[in-house]
Amino acid sequence: MDYQQDFDFENRIVDAHEIPEDNLEIETDNPLRPRKLEDYIGQEKVKENLKIYIEAALQRGEPLDHVLLYGPPGLGKTTLSQIIANELGVNIRITSGPAIEKPGDLAAILTNLNEGDVLFIDEIHRLNRSVEEILYPAMEDFAIDIITGKGQMAASYHLPLPKFTLVGATTRAGQLTAPLRDRFGVTLRLELYSPEELSTIINRSANILGIEIDSDGSLEMASRSRGTPRIANRFLKRVRDFAQVLNDGKISFEIARTALDKMEIDELGLDQNDRRMLESMIKFYNGGPVGLETLAAAIGEEAVTIEDVYEPYLMQIGFLQRTPRGRCVTAEGYRHLGYEFGGTASQQTLF
Ligand code: ADE
Repeated sequence: MDYQQDFDFENRIVDAHEIPEDNLEIETDNPLRPRKLEDYIGQEKVKENLKIYIEAALQRGEPLDHVLLYGPPGLGKTTLSQIIANELGVNIRITSGPAIEKPGDLAAILTNLNEGDVLFIDEIHRLNRSVEEILYPAMEDFAIDIITGKGQMAASYHLPLPKFTLVGATTRAGQLTAPLRDRFGVTLRLELYSPEELSTIINRSANILGIEIDSDGSLEMASRSRGTPRIANRFLKRVRDFAQVLNDGKISFEIARTALDKMEIDELGLDQNDRRMLESMIKFYNGGPVGLETLAAAIGEEAVTIEDVYEPYLMQIGFLQRTPRGRCVTAEGYRHLGYEFGGTASQQTLF
């Protein structure tokens, strides 16, 4: 059987990675993005500390220390960086690790900043080494050293920069090199959202988009959104289509359930791909332990996608465990998929 062929990893509505439709114009007005810290729902610990750091920097009249945001995709790292700039009353320049190809690209961005501005670098773990090395003195001393020419003609210029705040975002802080990680004064970890928080986010978005929704409808969508606001907002737009065509436009519990069932998102937010990944672990590897790379090859998916997109949620709901010997499906995972949890000898020592 060519198992790989059955997978449709393209266009997953539950893939938390950003697609253009989520966000037509990142730097301009996406009405769903909150602008102020008080409008940002959830992440209470992060907000509480960030509020203090911002207020302290404003009181001292200094730029905010560099901030590292980390956590799974779709939790609002870009949104939070825009809020930081907004609360500080400064401009933000948004870019990403892979977009900055050469040291000169970064030098151009840095020299164009104004005093106090926020520079947001998404996927900062994907900066290449030569670019990263420019960032060290820029972060630490607000200066860059530029070398021009070769041999006897070589000259070095020390170029002072405006004092700025770097906000870096990454899916895993562990992927950053130690020198880069050490240069962030503030490190904040974003957590998956609770269904209640997601329901509040859905209600807020529905209100902004002029969609009628009742509390059971929004909670039903929230509980299938895998802890991720980006997915919740995507569901809202799709479920609205069902509500409009099949009903009077209002999103009720029944409409939400029907729409999500039709999209094959189950009551815990797993789609066909999650279920098939767990199923292939059960069928072909006795539920594990199975190594990440082996699993990635078996389902035709990138290891990083498994780690960033599939695993955080499957681990949060207790369907998957990471062990030193590999990934394992838990008894709850077996039960959810309708399999009996027998367990091999090696598993019985684990559970
Ligand atoms: N939209 C996406 N994430 C959000 C959040 N945390 N609060 C409010 N609206 C959001």
